[in-house]
Amino acid sequence: MLPEKITPRHFLKAKKEGRKIVMITAYDAIQAKIVDEAGVDGILVGDSLGMVVMGYRSTVPVTMSMIIHHLKAVLNASPKALVVADMPFLSYEISKEEALRNAGKLIKLGADAVKLEGGVEIIDIIEAMTRIGIPVMGHIGLNPQRYLLRGLRLRGSDAEDAKKVFEDAKALEKAGVFSIVIEFTTSEVAAEVTRMLKIPTICIGSGPLCDGQILVFHDVVGLTPNPPPFARKYINALEIFSRAVENYVRDVREGSFPGRNEYYSMDNKEYERFKKMIEAKSD
Ligand code: KIV
Repeated sequence: MLPEKITPRHFLKAKKEGRKIVMITAYDAIQAKIVDEAGVDGILVGDSLGMVVMGYRSTVPVTMSMIIHHLKAVLNASPKALVVADMPFLSYEISKEEALRNAGKLIKLGADAVKLEGGVEIIDIIEAMTRIGIPVMGHIGLNPQRYLLRGLRLRGSDAEDAKKVFEDAKALEKAGVFSIVIEFTTSEVAAEVTRMLKIPTICIGSGPLCDGQILVFHDVVGLTPNPPPFARKYINALEIFSRAVENYVRDVREGSFPGRNEYYSMDNKEYERFKKMIEAKSD
């Protein structure tokens, strides 16, 4: 029997039944196992990996091969959670054909859905995907892939901009996405969008009145030196990891590592035979 697996339909059902959806990013098998066992509904192999894993200043340099590399690692954990693969900058904007080919590649590798940043301006691309059966998660509000032109500003702080976010959400639902991430948008706008849509909204930095929340793994465990103000840090892994490695460095230098239980020995008789062998060789 196939193991139970969360699907886009579970997301729609959760909204109908008023159950909050929890998502988080993960970029390798261990992280995927940790978050899956914690009971998240969805794992995003996000292009945020460009910043938190690769150390770039933005998500713009992220490529399809980077997403594929980390998607494979996450899938190796066989998570029950829905696995969403992010489509990186310029993997879907050039042509519909290229967009379909790239989305198809991620789905064939085992992603349960793909996520694309953008609203009305990419509707034809999203429609082309959903028409052939590719589950798509939208991503509106702040779109970090467009930061070079638009900056990283809060969306929906005036009525005109709020209306744009609202129109993006409406168009995405009509194009067939099964859920929408709303990033760094005023809570009033996120709440109105959530009320208007039949599909669930998954918010990041957009307040509590959404159908679900998503955060970046490294922000949750405290591995990012400068996390965004809307993230909540549950432990300080940066401090814990640093302490562990500092202690390791100290123990090696002092000679207390490896200890007696941390290495293996030869049988005495074998050791004597071995010594004779190397003595005979050096004569
Ligand atoms: O790449 C990512 O981690 C994301 C989330 C911030 C939603 O797109």
